[in-house]
Amino acid sequence: MAVGIFDSGLGGLTVLDAVQQRLPDVEFVYLADSANAPYGVRTADNIYDLTVAATQRLFDAGCDLVILACNTASAAALRRMQESWVPQDKRVLGVFVPLIEAMTERQWGDNSPPREVALKHVALFATPATVASRAFQRELAFRAIGVDVEAQACGGVVDAIEDGDFILAEALVRSHVDALKRKMPEPEAAILGCTHYPLMQEAFQTALGKDVSVFSQANLVADSLADYLERHPNMAGTGETAYLTTGDPARVSSRATQFLRRQIDFAAA
Ligand code: DGL
Repeated sequence: MAVGIFDSGLGGLTVLDAVQQRLPDVEFVYLADSANAPYGVRTADNIYDLTVAATQRLFDAGCDLVILACNTASAAALRRMQESWVPQDKRVLGVFVPLIEAMTERQWGDNSPPREVALKHVALFATPATVASRAFQRELAFRAIGVDVEAQACGGVVDAIEDGDFILAEALVRSHVDALKRKMPEPEAAILGCTHYPLMQEAFQTALGKDVSVFSQANLVADSLADYLERHPNMAGTGETAYLTTGDPARVSSRATQFLRRQIDFAAA
């Protein structure tokens, strides 16, 4: 059985790359809904419909477990999918919780009551839809008290990355960090709450300054998936990955190859 990894576009490759390294025998199917990216400017209902369709495509490709390697889909659609759509023999997991567990010094699945943690001032950088959902603050409130979160919606960054325009992406990152700092001058930590943003991690770190700890999801999600698979040990396979896109396979393959610095060949979904 393969594990499905879904993103609106290429950002989920940052998660896929980390989980492939951590779990070299597991088979993956990566699906990029490039025809409909970016999701971050869409309504919650629209994101729900697109995420359900993409997840069904991964079920049809033989995946019983699907990771939404997209914060926007995790924030706007995951809870509703789990409550009313996911069939009993399938699992769909998001990328928010592992990050919040790491930030709040918790082990995987520790559901004890919220408590004080070391971090007090946290900057969240995410897409407009993720910020509007307030899902991050909701999940954080289940686990920690006394943490002040300032969220910055980073319009335009995902489009620039999908277009391969890193000069524009960097300029936008600088301006979003400036806007955040006007609201919270001294964050102790910053969350890159979009799987595209690790591709711009250096730009975020430089604009924020070296004293700010930048949390990004890829390794945290890889660790928690490894933990999950150890408890569900029927996943070892050939270690192969299939790449599917709803967009133009040639264009998406060329961007993906540029991002991961190795040949990636997408096929039509
Ligand atoms: N990588 C998605 C995320 O983590 C990008 C969202 C988008 O398509 O705008 O939120």
